[in-house]
Amino acid sequence: MLISHVDSGSSDPAFAAIEEALQTGCAELKCQRVAALSTPAVSADDPPEVRAGNLTPGRPPRPVLVHPSRVARRRLNSVQGRVALVHAVAHIEFNAINLALDAAWRFRGMPPGYYDDWLRVARDEARHFGWLRQRLLDMGSDYGELEAHNGLWEAAVKTAADPLVRMALVPRVLEARGLDVTPGMINRLARSGDHETVAILERILEEEVCHVEIGSRWYHYLCAQRELDADALFPRLLDEYMQVRPRGPFNFPARRAAGFTPAELDWLRQSD
Ligand SMILES: [Fe+2]
Ligand SMILES: [Fe+2]
Repeated sequence: MLISHVDSGSSDPAFAAIEEALQTGCAELKCQRVAALSTPAVSADDPPEVRAGNLTPGRPPRPVLVHPSRVARRRLNSVQGRVALVHAVAHIEFNAINLALDAAWRFRGMPPGYYDDWLRVARDEARHFGWLRQRLLDMGSDYGELEAHNGLWEAAVKTAADPLVRMALVPRVLEARGLDVTPGMINRLARSGDHETVAILERILEEEVCHVEIGSRWYHYLCAQRELDADALFPRLLDEYMQVRPRGPFNFPARRAAGFTPAELDWLRQSD
């Protein structure tokens, strides 16, 4: 399949509104704009196109971005430790808003359901961010008070040239990692007695299964369209773009619900 790369904007105002939300730096305003977005009117005959701009999305001046090794990690038996954890997850959710908007804005010529799905994910991520930001305020902190890293957005830049690569590596690797690690976080928070954060993470985990499933569905759609073997291609894309294999322990029930095929689950089991 030929994909053209273009820089100019679309005439559809719904795409312009997605782009505006993507470029909004203020977190509250971004979330408001996401809630007001509507699905662009697309036709099955629209040619595939990849937009080339917007590689630096809007984000607030704080948090300051640092190398991942410098982001604070503390034990969860102190309020500061729990604030550090909630701040890190809030930052993931903030990036996830931009990632979902970017998936909807950048990749054109997909069926209407693709845009419905990614705008729905953007709305979910904005809600997740809102819950966690409120939790930070309740604990006497706020989003931006700690440092954070830019790893998630770097993955968006790496995968900006092709929706198939984006679907394979962002929802099915990075968001899927959230499915694996969140149950452990929930257990540690429950042991520390932070039931408010536990309740938030349980709701997030439930909704994230659906985001990974959306990634799986469109990954398989694009593989079928290009007559590629999805199961064989997935590990190859991981090697090529990320140079790492997913690390266990894996949340197999959640990954199964999120559209990982029996062959992929077997492949993951080998590295568990
Ligand atoms: Fe989320
Ligand atoms: Fe998500």
